[in-house]
Amino acid sequence: MPHQRLTLSLGYDVVLAGDFAGLQGELQACLPGSTRALVVTHPRIRGWHGAAIEAELSGVEITWLEVPEGEAHKSLETWRGLVARMLEARPDRQVPVLALGGGVVGDMAGFAAATVLRGLPFVQIPTSVLAAVDASVGGKTAVNVPQGKNLVGAFYQPRLVWAPLSTLDTLPPEELRCGLGEIVKHAIIAGGDALSRLEASGLDLLAGDKGALATVIADSVRVKAAIVERDPLERGERAILNLGHTLGHAVESVLGYGAVRHGEAVAIGIVAIARLGVLRGWTCAGVASRVEALVGRLDLPTRVPTGASTDDLHAAMGFDKKRARGMVRLVVFSEPGKVRLESLPEAELRALAELGVRA
Ligand code: GLY
Repeated sequence: MPHQRLTLSLGYDVVLAGDFAGLQGELQACLPGSTRALVVTHPRIRGWHGAAIEAELSGVEITWLEVPEGEAHKSLETWRGLVARMLEARPDRQVPVLALGGGVVGDMAGFAAATVLRGLPFVQIPTSVLAAVDASVGGKTAVNVPQGKNLVGAFYQPRLVWAPLSTLDTLPPEELRCGLGEIVKHAIIAGGDALSRLEASGLDLLAGDKGALATVIADSVRVKAAIVERDPLERGERAILNLGHTLGHAVESVLGYGAVRHGEAVAIGIVAIARLGVLRGWTCAGVASRVEALVGRLDLPTRVPTGASTDDLHAAMGFDKKRARGMVRLVVFSEPGKVRLESLPEAELRALAELGVRA
C-alpha cells in the first residue's frame, strides 16, 4: 500500500503506512542521530508487533516499557510507574518515546513524554482505528482521575504519527467498530458528502476491508488535522471535536472506565445530542434520524446501556457545570457541516442524560 502523508503546520507528518517498513528512516529524518528509543505499549500489542518493530528499528537500542491494557489503567498510578521506569532508563532529551498502541497507550505515553525531563521527543504509532483517526493526532495527552476523564494532562504534540494499517489485522472487531464512532463524528463535522460516503462503505468497514478503512481513516485524519492546526490549544474551534463527548465521558465514568468503549460512548453521545437538537429545534428530525441510523448501521450503540441512570449521568456531567458557573457549553449540530458550540442552562444536561437513556 503506498503511504499517504499529511504534513501538519504544527511541524509534523501523519503517515498512513502499510506496515512498519520505512519507520526507521522517518525517525532518522525527524529525530536525527537518535540511537535509543523508549517504546511504551501493552503486553498483547508487544506480542503482536514487538518483533516487527525490533526488525525495523535494528540500529536502535529499544527499552520496552509495558503498561497494563485498558482504560481502567489510564491513571495517575500507571503514569507514576511509567515515568519512574523511564527515569531508570536514564534517557537524555534526545531519546524519543514511541507510543505503540491505541488511545490509552498514546495518551499515557504522551503525558509521560511531556513530563519526563520536561519533555522527551514523542512519536505516535497508533494500532487502532480510533487512535489513528483521533487520539494520535493533535497532541492531547492525559490520564483519568476520580473527578473525570482526561482531567490531568498536557497538550504535547508528537514529532511524527506513523499509522501502520497492517496492525488493524490484529484488532478485535469490537475495537475496530469503536473507532468508527470518532469517524462518524468527523464526518458530521466535515459535512459535504462525508456522511454519505460513510453510509455507502459501512458494511465494508465492519468487515475490515483495508481499502475502505484506508480511505475513511485518511478522510477523517484530514478533518481533525485541519481543526487542530487552526486551534492546537483548544481556545475555540477545536472544542467542536468534543461532539458527543459530554454525555460520552459521563457514560464511561458512570459505567466504569473500560466497561463501555470510548468510541461507543461517543456514538451514544452524538445520538443524544441529535435528539436534544430535534427537541430544541436546532436539528431537523431527518438529520437526527439519519445520524442515528448510520450509528446503528455501523453496529454502534445508540443509547446508554443499562446500569447508568439519568441521575448518575447528570451528576457525572456536573463537573463541566462547575467550570462554567451554571451554564454549560455543548457541541451541537443543525446538519452535517454545521457544528457549533452552544452555551445552555445547566438543566439541559439532565435532558441530554434522559435522551441518552431513552430507547
Ligand atoms: N479528541 C478531541 C481532540 O483531540 O480535540
